[in-house]
Amino acid sequence: MNIKKVGVVGCGLMGHGIVQVAAQGGCEVIALESDQAFLDKGLSRVDKSLAKLASKNVEKGKMDQAAADAWVKETRARITGTIQRADVADCDLVIEAIVENLDVKKELFKDLGGICKPETVFASNTSSFPIGEMAEASGRPSRFVGLHFFNPVQLMRLVEVVRTDDTDGAVFEAALEFGKACGKHPVSCKDTPGFVVNRLLVPYMVQAIDMLDRGDASKEDIDAAMQFGCGYPMGPLTLTDYVGLDTTLSILQGWTERYPDEPAFKIPASLERLVAEGKFGRKTGEGYYKWDGDKKA
Ligand code: 3HC
Repeated sequence: MNIKKVGVVGCGLMGHGIVQVAAQGGCEVIALESDQAFLDKGLSRVDKSLAKLASKNVEKGKMDQAAADAWVKETRARITGTIQRADVADCDLVIEAIVENLDVKKELFKDLGGICKPETVFASNTSSFPIGEMAEASGRPSRFVGLHFFNPVQLMRLVEVVRTDDTDGAVFEAALEFGKACGKHPVSCKDTPGFVVNRLLVPYMVQAIDMLDRGDASKEDIDAAMQFGCGYPMGPLTLTDYVGLDTTLSILQGWTERYPDEPAFKIPASLERLVAEGKFGRKTGEGYYKWDGDKKA
């Protein structure tokens, strides 16, 4: 099975990055959004990121300016935007990267199941929802995988490839190959809460928030401790702002509903409060820190 044409549903924080790395990997990509303004915003992020990567490659002497310009042009030419679901009908793979809401995702896959050709493989970039439930909703559970990328997709080298008991072996292999084509290191995971990374990372972020809420240390010191003591590129509170407080909360809400007795999934009070105040982190300009664009204010 060879994945050449890819549909990406959702062109937001994660989706635009997936669009880009799939195009960088040589695939023809259809970026599907619900609204033209969201689509334009997502594609302009792709343009900015491609320009940045190209100029880095020139700076590092990996490419001359002409080669970098040609790379940007060729990569961008593989991407088409649309707001019509029917335009992904003949894709080999359709990856969902929409809002973290299981009912909305299931509805989408049910619809795509009726639109796409029977061979199309479906994938979800969900951080935490059971892949099996979406696979069931799509009506083609054997052709369904999880493809979980990391933020920023253009820079983070991992993709988790998740299989359910129903996933066909050839479909799973094709998904692993697709991950490699996107320049990622694929790891195979079963359909368990948070897969590998978030099962470890989210409870760690929760512990850091609890520590801050108890007043054990300042946010700056908690972050500096993990950066300079453990060599992490970002401290846990900066990372929560980076991932999005809304996303982190919705992951935890999904887990606490399913696993009410698991203490590692307890929701910190300040996380709920900040989300209720619309402070989602970097993307809204404030979370645990204040942000000015991509940098802390
Ligand atoms: N495209 C192109 N270039 C980009 C970019 C993008 N999307 N994002 C950042 N860059 C550029 C920066 O602009 C910068 O360029 P410059 O040197 O010219 O200024 C360069 O890449 C390096 O960025 P930084 O200067 O910010 O340097 P860092 O060394 O800190 O790298 C980082 C940034 C890679 C984000 C690093 O801080 C990091 O690895 N942080 C941890 C991120 C992480 O843990 N992500 C996983 C989150 S969990 C998740 O996503 C799962 C989800 O389900 C919750």
